[in-house]
Amino acid sequence: MPDTLPPAVPADHVAIDASEDIGVNTSTEPSIGTLIERRLSRRAAILGLAGTAAAATLTDQLLACAANLAAAQAAGPSTLSFREIAHQLGERDAVAAGYEMQVLLRWGDPILDGAPEFDPKALTPDSQRRQFGYNCDYLDFFPLPKGSNSSDHGLLVVNHEYTNTGLMFAGLGAGRAARDKVTREQAAIEIAAHGASVVEIRRENGRWRAVKESRFNRRIDGETRIRISGPAAGHAKMKTSYDSTGTMVHGTLNNCAGGNTPWGTVLIAEENFNGYFGGDPEKTPHAASFKRYGITKASWYGWVNHFDRFNVEKEPNEPYRFGWIVEFDPYDPASVPVKRTALGRFKHEGCHHAVNRDGRVVIYMGDDERFDYVYRFVTARPWNPNDPAANRDLLDEGVLSVAQFRDDGTVAWLPLIHGHGPLTAENGFTSQADVLLETRRAADLLKATPMDRPEDVEPNPVTGRVYVILTNNSRRREDQVNRANPRAANAHGHVIEIIPPGAGTEAVDHAADTMRWEMFLVAGKPGIDPGSRYHRATSEHGWLSCPDNCAFDKKGRIWIATDGANSAAGVADGLYAADTGGPGRALTRLFYQAPIGAEVCGPLFTPDNTTLFLAIQHPGETADSTFETPSTRWPDFAADTPPRPSVIAIMKTGGGEIGS
Ligand code: FEO
Ligand code: CA
Ligand code: CA
Ligand code: CA
Repeated sequence: MPDTLPPAVPADHVAIDASEDIGVNTSTEPSIGTLIERRLSRRAAILGLAGTAAAATLTDQLLACAANLAAAQAAGPSTLSFREIAHQLGERDAVAAGYEMQVLLRWGDPILDGAPEFDPKALTPDSQRRQFGYNCDYLDFFPLPKGSNSSDHGLLVVNHEYTNTGLMFAGLGAGRAARDKVTREQAAIEIAAHGASVVEIRRENGRWRAVKESRFNRRIDGETRIRISGPAAGHAKMKTSYDSTGTMVHGTLNNCAGGNTPWGTVLIAEENFNGYFGGDPEKTPHAASFKRYGITKASWYGWVNHFDRFNVEKEPNEPYRFGWIVEFDPYDPASVPVKRTALGRFKHEGCHHAVNRDGRVVIYMGDDERFDYVYRFVTARPWNPNDPAANRDLLDEGVLSVAQFRDDGTVAWLPLIHGHGPLTAENGFTSQADVLLETRRAADLLKATPMDRPEDVEPNPVTGRVYVILTNNSRRREDQVNRANPRAANAHGHVIEIIPPGAGTEAVDHAADTMRWEMFLVAGKPGIDPGSRYHRATSEHGWLSCPDNCAFDKKGRIWIATDGANSAAGVADGLYAADTGGPGRALTRLFYQAPIGAEVCGPLFTPDNTTLFLAIQHPGETADSTFETPSTRWPDFAADTPPRPSVIAIMKTGGGEIGS
């Protein structure tokens, strides 16, 4: 099957990657130079196959891989007992034997009252506002009834990150060129396909179904009214021609991953917001800031041709109103979502929390750009389980910090507080709002560590350790290598483990100023890609490329979803699972593989771990793939129907915990 398919070069990702040149951090801090020193003290189990096999012949490697596969199929030292699948790249997806897949929600499914059935040739903005959006990413599950621990009934929250214009509409051709051709109505459909969905779902007789008439169902899109809150609300740079108060914005865009709070709200992250804007930044007062955030003349979408607020020459402050974390209550469809400016403005990937030993809420975040940073926010006050009103604006006050990874195996959290260190009027920061609006520049001045594109940063609720997923960075040079980013031209990414003081005990301190870190794995093909490091028993199908989002099961095992393996490694993106401790630590095993062109997002378990939901984003996003001739028609495989980004549910045949 792979031989008959077009080359897997994700056209839209290529465009995005090229545009990211502009926003890239030019900081050289820290350019330590002396390199790739392994921190193997307690790591005998994680010998890099590449390190030991670099001199082996290809035959030796293949024999070793075969032996490894046999070992892994027998589960080896892993606690994961599923039978690993083989790497593939094809029109269909695949899951481990003994598991069943069900497509639960597809782009265009009617979810609100009055929504028409999906008809790819009759899309309208009004119908899209009532239908499931495009490119599903973050997933979260809020049990029903509220306060229960149900695993059969709840609200599924789904982000809709972006749109693939050439796969949505007929006659536009492929990739970036298609985006420039959109009509005003098509642009409005794309805006309506962004944002998030809330959908009531139920499991009955072993099958999940969406409750289409539910009073809870909701669409949030690129036009929804959203309140701006926290220190940057009302700032001069937040005011536009349509909002003289700087406190109310139209919509949320590029909602990638997210997180939730202990008080039952969801957080959705605005990632590549820069790409929606066009016009000449040099003709605005904000050229330097726009450059740091990657806002250029060359918009990634056609919207700027039809809606003035995306043109920085006409509405120069609008980009400041994006790049935030957005909070809303999924149980209240009438609630107004809020952009929480205290959590900083950057290309937010996700925002996962831990409740600290003192009750304060600690949120870990990544800024997904080459050479950008890992952040942490600590609320000023503990959350109050008995008084919902006390938590309502808890995220408006606290300390945002940025991570400095040191070669001695420690990580320091450097606070971004106005008036501290270089964050003063002398450097253009006259208030905390200034610091937050220019979070990246403030972090540059503090000498944070430029990372290889931070995606999810997520605490393991079982062990208290925090996992930093770094997807790749093809532009890191040899002289920019350090222990936390140990490879030049890092095509495949790596995963760092942060160990807060007291991790594994009730006294774990997520608010500590200093923590330890270790390398968990370095991705790529063992024996082929220099520097790749896994458990020695990792099979020829268990290695991964371009880790992106992750989830933890009840046993504290990590499930890693990938984004970019099609082009980086010639295999489809997938979902890999591994123990995080014990003899099977970092022994990744392939559980699910997506159709060609798609990335795997939002891995999400029901509380009882018997269902795993996955968001399959941008299926068919390959070079020359179009509405008429897509590289896959997953999941419908119906004539004249393009691929449809969809949420799938995976359950064990006959029931039981996933991966058990
Ligand atoms: Fe939207 Fe960084 O993935
Ligand atoms: Ca993504
Ligand atoms: Ca992601
Ligand atoms: Ca990604």
